[in-house]
Amino acid sequence: MRAVTLRREQTAQGPLILVNPSHPLRAGHLPELTAPDLRRPEVLLERQTARLLAACVQAAGGAGDIVPVSGWRSQREQEAIWRDTWAKEGEAFTRRYVALPGCSEHQTGLAIDLGKRAEHIDFIRPDFPKEGACGVFRRLAAEYGFIQRYRREKEAVTGIGEEPWHFRYVGAPHAALMEENGLCLEEYGDFLRTGPKRCRLANGRWVEVFWLSCPGGTVEAELPEGICQISGDNGGGFILTVWEGPA
Ligand code: DAL
Ligand code: ZN
Repeated sequence: MRAVTLRREQTAQGPLILVNPSHPLRAGHLPELTAPDLRRPEVLLERQTARLLAACVQAAGGAGDIVPVSGWRSQREQEAIWRDTWAKEGEAFTRRYVALPGCSEHQTGLAIDLGKRAEHIDFIRPDFPKEGACGVFRRLAAEYGFIQRYRREKEAVTGIGEEPWHFRYVGAPHAALMEENGLCLEEYGDFLRTGPKRCRLANGRWVEVFWLSCPGGTVEAELPEGICQISGDNGGGFILTVWEGPA
């Protein structure tokens, strides 16, 4: 065990932050960005997200077929998308398919909209079918740490319409736990608050996941042995991930 002191402001950082209208991004949030190597150098993502997206597309045999349409967006870009979509499509459509500026996962660099290669790809609602390389990507996504973030059956919870093209990086253990338990990211925090969870990854390794509250300025955490990741949840807590056994 080793002790660490975690600060409240760190709860707003990390790959597991929840971002929605009741959990806006901290102003000035700027991830380290890079382009996944997918022939669209203008599409940027947080570094780990970019690396795993490229690996998943490669594994799906989709290098020529799967197009990254929209990755990281600045606050100004999200504002422009909101304004332009509202002018073109109206309020109901905009609220259904565009997150409020300051509350979009795209501003974290952890979200990617994917489309099937075509002459015209819709920027707001790209076609990302269940068949072909896109379908293989879907089936592999959780193994590489991605979830389809906005599902039809969770519309009432997320407040966003079904988006089969929008994938969010959360990391493989968390994607597996969410899939196994039928949870969206809004529900995942409550699930972890009920107690530690374990899951077995596709590579056979076991992982344990804990939630830790940070109600005040700081919290002391006793970290278990093993490779550990600490992420804020953007809701006043931390999610600790511990890989069991040798690396
Ligand atoms: N399309 C998603 C909800 C966004 O704008 O972040
Ligand atoms: Zn998106």
